[in-house]
Amino acid sequence: MSGTFQHDVLIVGGGGAGLRAAIAAAETNPDLDIAVVSKVYPMRSHTVSAEGGAAGVIKAGDTAEDHIRDTVFGSDWLADQDAVEVFVEEAPNELIQLEHWGCPWSRDPDGTVAVRPFGGMSIERTWFAADKTGFHMLHTLFQTSLKYASTKRYDEWFVTRLLVENGRCQGVAALELRTGQVCAILSKAVILCTGGYGRIFPFTTNAAISTGDGLGLAYRAGVPLKDLEFVQYHPTGLPGTGILITEAARSEGGILVNKNGDRYLRHYDLGQPLDVNDERHPVFRAMELGPRDRLSQAFIKEEEKGNVFDGPYGTYVHLDVRHIGEKKIDEKIPFVRELTKNYVGIDPVHEPIPVRPVVHYMMGGIDTTLEGASPLPGLYAAGECACVSINGANRLGSNSLPELLVFGARAGRNATLFAREHPELDTASLEKQAEDEQRRIANAFIKKLDGTERLATIRTELQRAAEAGCGIYRTDATLREAAHKVAELKERFTRTKLDDHSLSFNTELTAALELEFMIDVAEAVVQAALERKESRGSHQRIDFPERDDERFLKHSLAFRTTDVPRIEYRDVVITNWPPAVRVYGREH
Ligand code: FUM
Repeated sequence: MSGTFQHDVLIVGGGGAGLRAAIAAAETNPDLDIAVVSKVYPMRSHTVSAEGGAAGVIKAGDTAEDHIRDTVFGSDWLADQDAVEVFVEEAPNELIQLEHWGCPWSRDPDGTVAVRPFGGMSIERTWFAADKTGFHMLHTLFQTSLKYASTKRYDEWFVTRLLVENGRCQGVAALELRTGQVCAILSKAVILCTGGYGRIFPFTTNAAISTGDGLGLAYRAGVPLKDLEFVQYHPTGLPGTGILITEAARSEGGILVNKNGDRYLRHYDLGQPLDVNDERHPVFRAMELGPRDRLSQAFIKEEEKGNVFDGPYGTYVHLDVRHIGEKKIDEKIPFVRELTKNYVGIDPVHEPIPVRPVVHYMMGGIDTTLEGASPLPGLYAAGECACVSINGANRLGSNSLPELLVFGARAGRNATLFAREHPELDTASLEKQAEDEQRRIANAFIKKLDGTERLATIRTELQRAAEAGCGIYRTDATLREAAHKVAELKERFTRTKLDDHSLSFNTELTAALELEFMIDVAEAVVQAALERKESRGSHQRIDFPERDDERFLKHSLAFRTTDVPRIEYRDVVITNWPPAVRVYGREH
């Protein structure tokens, strides 16, 4: 082990949630010694690729109650309503704060912040910066974080283990990618902001870095993972690459049509949840701006009817934005045009865009409270890796960016308080744990010469098993097969062999460490899905097609064991919105 560092608050992950947490911690106490550890340079974090926008009540006619109701409804009642209330209450101020830090929100002609409609939102409340919202938000947070000299960054360091002593998380073991050395980075509080785990699936909008590292770290330290069975498919990804074509394309007027030229969503239950006679909730927002779970499910139904196109990268439908016109496309969704030209070779001003559902976001994550605290004292989490939970069984588009701001800030502030109250660290035993971790990595990968399994093979098989077992529709049989496969891959992983045994920037080693986390997380996803015998939001069981509030109006909690994960359940928090039928549409 080649070094020990020490801080007051340590944040793992340099994306939106991590930087917001770092700023909140520094603002809470300017004397605090803060560290941000990230396996990539912060501006390469996955937040940068968010496109469509961030929801927050700002315009006349909109209310917090409307936003809460849309979110709870969209979640199929699995969101904790106290969390949604806090989120909706604090989101607008976070977005205004970002404006003050320099985020260039798009404006209306009168100079006020512009908002656009978004899927499942009954009122226009999604702030945006053209269709590069995440890029601008991340820049804003990054440049703001630079103001605080008390924040030290460990860019391109990969955290492989939480250091836990006396029942408290007191730091991490981290691999410096440049040297290949494992160091102990001790801290009085640790916040995980490592993003999602879309990469356990083969076809995803997620960056290659979204491998569930934070979930794996927490899970191995005994922290439960909540609601992992809820996997969001975004209805419009580019076939082949999985690149996101933002929902903003539909919010600006784009329509989905099948191979027969039929605007097929009209055949499905995709109106709005509210009274269509209420003029604040016009019907035009239905269909293409229905919630993502329902749109992705409609695609599968169209596929079953043979109504979709067949292409070299699978089936697809058309997203048609031609009628929007070149001027508005260039003004409101320029990135859609750029991506389609570069990655499909067509100009959406003149031709429809081929799209299909793609894994986009994980509703589940590390179990946290409203303060961002996990059940392990000293360990906090925020952003996509956490589950507080505001998203329940289906997240509404544009709720995740404000979520990472609201709960990133909360986690930052609360971790700071915890650090103040727990100043002592068990340095010697923490260093010993980091030494053990260095030895484990060396023996399992660097020095190991007798392995027989290839990383890429195991990863590909894992991703295929996840898609086949836990895709848009699931059954007991598909899930059991996936569980069996993941168990097999877990065993085979112990026999992997690297080709690269060097230390400096050994990307094969990083991939191996990521794959370990992916296998752990996939195992929990499959088990949680297997045991939830109902259909709710993004979790659709063909063998249990109905929502079952009697048995499953509950969060699942997956605990790591030496055998299959143990699943426990906890009641959902209901405040003012009792469960009801989630009907969006009118009769067609
Ligand atoms: O389509 C989009 O722009 C995605 C937004 C989101 O996931 O919130």
